[in-house]
Formats: sequence, C-alpha cells, structure tokens
Amino acid sequence: MTNSVAPLQTPAPLVITLGNLKGGVGKTTSSFFLASYFASVHELRVLVIDADPLSQTGYSWYRRLTKGDIEVPFHLIAFPSRHVDDCITDNAAEYDVIIVDAGGESAEIFKAAIPESHELILLTSVSPSEVKRVPSTFKAAEEAAAGRDREIRVRVLMTKVPVTMKKGVNISTEYRTQRKYLEDAGYDVFESYLSSWKWYREAADGEVGDGAENPIEDLAEYRQVGDELVSPYRLAVEVPA
Ligand SMILES: Nc1ncnc2c1ncn2[C@@H]1O[C@H](COP(=O)(O)OP(=O)(O)OP(=O)(O)O)[C@@H](O)[C@H]1O
Ligand SMILES: [Mg+2]
Repeated sequence: MTNSVAPLQTPAPLVITLGNLKGGVGKTTSSFFLASYFASVHELRVLVIDADPLSQTGYSWYRRLTKGDIEVPFHLIAFPSRHVDDCITDNAAEYDVIIVDAGGESAEIFKAAIPESHELILLTSVSPSEVKRVPSTFKAAEEAAAGRDREIRVRVLMTKVPVTMKKGVNISTEYRTQRKYLEDAGYDVFESYLSSWKWYREAADGEVGDGAENPIEDLAEYRQVGDELVSPYRLAVEVPA
C-alpha cells in the first residue's frame, strides 16, 4: 500500500519544468503550489526558478509573501536567461527539487531547461486555441531533448477546467472534448486537473492576507496533482501477506 507520505526515490535533484509556449496557462500558479507540495508533504528542499523574461509574476509574488512575513517553505530565484541550465546545475547540490517556470513565448529559455529536466509538465486550459498549442511545445521539447541519453517524461496538465459534476463525474463538454483530443493524439494527460476556481485566479495577484498565501496554507487540488506527479518515484512498499 502506498500513501502520500510514502518515501520517494527521486533523482538528486528532481528537475521539473513547467512550460507551454503560450502565456497565461497557469505555469506560475502551478509552480508555487507544487513547490509547496514538495516542501510540505515530502519535506524536501525546493527551489523555484522564475525563468520568465516577460512576466516575473513569480518573483513579485514570492517577494510579497516573504515581505508579508509569511513563512514560505521554498526558495525562489529569478533567472530569465537562456543560461537557465547553468542555474539548474549550480543549484543542484542545495536542493532536492528544482521547479523551472519556463515562461511563455520564450522558446530559447524553455529549450535550455529541457536537457536538465526529468519531468516536463505541459499546461493547458480547455480553450481549444491553447490545446492546439500543446503539439508545438511538445515538438520544441523533443528537439531540445534530442541526443540526450536520459529520458524526459512529458505529461499534460489541464488547468482552469470548468466543472459540472454528475454522480461524481465531471461531465463538462469542453473538458471532456479537449481531454479526449489530447489523449487521442497520444499525450499522457494527468488524471487530476485544476478546476477553474476564483481562489487560484486570485492567488498570485492578491495582497498577503487576501489569498496570496494560498499555496502555503492549502494545496487544494494540487495535492492530488503532486501525488500523481511523484507516483513514478514511489518506493515499492511491501504489502504484508
Ligand atoms: N486553475 C485556475 N483557475 C482559475 N484561474 C487560474 C487558474 N490557474 C491560474 N489562474 C489564473 O490565470 C492567470 C494566469 O496564471 P499564471 O500566471 O499562473 O499563468 P502563467 O502561465 O504563468 O502566465 P504567464 O505566461 O503570464 O507567466 C492568473 O491570473 C492566474 O491567477
Ligand atoms: Mg507566469
């Protein structure tokens, strides 16, 4: 039997890139929540690299939290450069998990992070125009990973998902249609997803005390996403006969 605190066997460090060559898909929000997940659930040393040359949402969010006397269980540095691979290797000894927020639009930085990553999470909302950008991001990742000896696992995570529950199943047509499209195209899509919630929408922009500390206080659906993310790294635990 396994549970969320079962020991993990991860590379040292486990490098996760969150990307999509399209802005506004939830990369920064997901970086913060997943960083908190690794720090609080697995008690690991976590670094977020904000490698987004345009937005820097992550950096200002982090600053607001720390200035607001919130104890943030991970570190963040802004490094929006195509040398982000050096930033990863230079910090490798200090952290168990490094999460790279590879920003929208900058293929160069995104591609520099890929050869150092074990996991690539391609984020997309259910918007058909965003879903259609998944293949080009995937292709860019493939090009960047070409010739590298170790494998990178690529999974798609759906964000801002509309929810219409019926008998415990989300029957939202938009959600079901886009998930089917991605699965039929051969992508490995996370079973769990992030609902379109006001709470997430306000997380990055709010003032401290007004929701901005959400990822530190409550992991919400990201706990499930995190558990699914680490499932390949769980140590096999013997079940007593
Ligand atoms: N699950 C969600 N439900 C509702 N709103 C969300 C969700 N996830 C993120 N958002 C909101 O969508 C917007 C974009 O999110 P975020 O900044 O995390 O994306 P990003 O991919 O980092 O964007 P950028 O490319 O601008 O850096 C923000 O206003 C955020 O609060
Ligand atoms: Mg961002």
